[in-house]
Amino acid sequence: MDTLYARAGGAPAVTAAVEALYRVVLTDDRLSPYFAGVDIPRLKDHMTALLTQVLGGPSAYTGRDLRLAHARLAITPPHYDLVGAYLIGVLAGLGADDELLAAVRGVLAGTEADIVAGSIAP
Ligand code: HEM
Repeated sequence: MDTLYARAGGAPAVTAAVEALYRVVLTDDRLSPYFAGVDIPRLKDHMTALLTQVLGGPSAYTGRDLRLAHARLAITPPHYDLVGAYLIGVLAGLGADDELLAAVRGVLAGTEADIVAGSIAP
């Protein structure tokens, strides 16, 4: 059976999705302040690897633990939801089917506790 990664269109599709995601995120005034001073090409590389892995593709994510990477940022739940909605919208716009979108929604639900503010406590 094809992985979600293969069905989504493989590396070109994931690259396109990550590019589109950061294009909208970085031009949204509610979100862009979080990214001040951040190395964006490196961030895109890590997000590409993570998304590839989540979809069952070949890449192994070597970035930081998501909790550690986001701990200093004080991300609010509405801002988390906004980025998640942008990601779903980008994937849908690239033709992702319902099963893929459901899988990504599941991942987003599972990572929220690691990424939003205040979650650093044990
Ligand atoms: C929706 C789920 C999210 C996922 C899967 C995700 C994924 C990632 C990944 C893979 C990295 C790179 C970690 C590294 O370089 O080692 C990262 C870093 C970062 N993320 Fe997220 N992220 C998410 C949500 C958010 C949200 C909602 C914001 C802000 C509104 C955000 C802001 C950042 C920033 C600013 C960095 C760079 C931190 C630094 O370099 O110090 N992320 N994220």
